[in-house]
Amino acid sequence: MDIKSIILAAGKGTRMKSETSKVLHEIMGKPLLGYVLDNVKNIASENFVIVGHKAEQVTDYVEKNYKNSKTILQSPQLGTGHAVSMACKYLENFDGNILILCGDTPLITEETLKKFIEYHNSSNSDLTVMSAIFDNPTNYGRIIRESDNSLKCIVEEKDATPAQKAVKEVNAGIYCINWAKVKGAFSDLKTNNAQGEYYLTDIIAWGKNSGLSVKAYTMDENSEIYGINSRINLAEASKIMNQRTLSKLMTNGVTIVDTDSTWISEDTQIGTDTVILPFTYIEGKNIIGKNCKIGPCAHLRGGVEVADNIKIGNFVEVKKSKINSNTNVGHLSYIGDSELGERVNIGAGTITANYNPLTKEKSKTVLGDDVKIGSNTVLVAPVILEQGVNVGAGSVITKNIKAWSLALTRSPLRILENWVKSKLK
Ligand code: UD1
Ligand code: CA
Repeated sequence: MDIKSIILAAGKGTRMKSETSKVLHEIMGKPLLGYVLDNVKNIASENFVIVGHKAEQVTDYVEKNYKNSKTILQSPQLGTGHAVSMACKYLENFDGNILILCGDTPLITEETLKKFIEYHNSSNSDLTVMSAIFDNPTNYGRIIRESDNSLKCIVEEKDATPAQKAVKEVNAGIYCINWAKVKGAFSDLKTNNAQGEYYLTDIIAWGKNSGLSVKAYTMDENSEIYGINSRINLAEASKIMNQRTLSKLMTNGVTIVDTDSTWISEDTQIGTDTVILPFTYIEGKNIIGKNCKIGPCAHLRGGVEVADNIKIGNFVEVKKSKINSNTNVGHLSYIGDSELGERVNIGAGTITANYNPLTKEKSKTVLGDDVKIGSNTVLVAPVILEQGVNVGAGSVITKNIKAWSLALTRSPLRILENWVKSKLK
């Protein structure tokens, strides 16, 4: 059966206190909404993102980054049920399952979503909600069951009786529904609740009263449904996400010397026997080869492709660059928009000047195999240094240089003997 997703992202996110939409706040250089969309990319054939607060920002991000996704404006925002109903007119003849997710829940994984859908299908459910058991269920909707354990309804915290508040099974906010059978619910939702909103959660009772098969799938990785409502939540989620990524890398043969001070984005691939030293920060999409040594205190900003046996040392920043095998960028350098050949050595303090602040243009630096750059060199891009070129320390390179040449812009050294002494009384 075809699956499409609806992702709720119209809410205000008041507690973020931000000019940026909540779902565009980032973890390791990727917006929260990006995590959710990436998780469904192998599951859903099309995604509908419901936008409202800061709609233009969110629409812009989705259109630039996710081709099979469409944003739908919800204005005003009258609740989660109202949000889903915005997609109805695009799904009139749709005859598959709809997966509903929230844009502020980035820690959910593809594996869990697949198990959830598998449960929905194999149990012949028409409407499945994901639940979890929380020691402290405060603020979540509670899953209310009948005496025979079948689902009855979901009650929001603000509408719950003391007995209902004591229930520890909570609504994770993720649903899988047989669209043709459940779509009728969205015109029947009412606002007779504590918040005066159209609650998506009311589709559970609706389904039951309509004689549908309604089920809950209880997941066991509670951290996956951690929702972001504040910047404190954002920091916490970033930590959880990072530890998860580091564990996966270590399991796959990467050494992480200090898991507390190392940050690596989940979109970074790293080969076996590579060692990541403390205080290294790697964000965005990167590919790092085998047997490399990165850090301490290195910063990879995304778009970095590194072959095997590379050294990127302390206080080195690399952005959008390709580095071939056996090359060293040992200390205090900036490598941006560059291509470095094999066996290149970059002396300490070398900078690729890739940005012209007047034209706002970025330009490329290309270094052939075996190029050796002396310390404290500025490579003013666009510039090409062919194979084997050597550059003397302290040079400013503004022209292309032919293979195996020596280039230096150093002014001659003057030595005035006894000059200091002559100045002393
Ligand atoms: C919701 C559930 C609750 C569940 C919790 C899980 C309802 C009524 N309650 O509560 O049972 O335990 O999620 O995290 O559904 N949104 C819109 N349009 C709106 C309102 C909200 O797009 O009009 C979006 C928000 O941007 C957010 C998501 O829907 O991404 C959830 O809304 P939120 O207000 O955070 O619901 P909760 O109170 O967390
Ligand atoms: Ca929420």
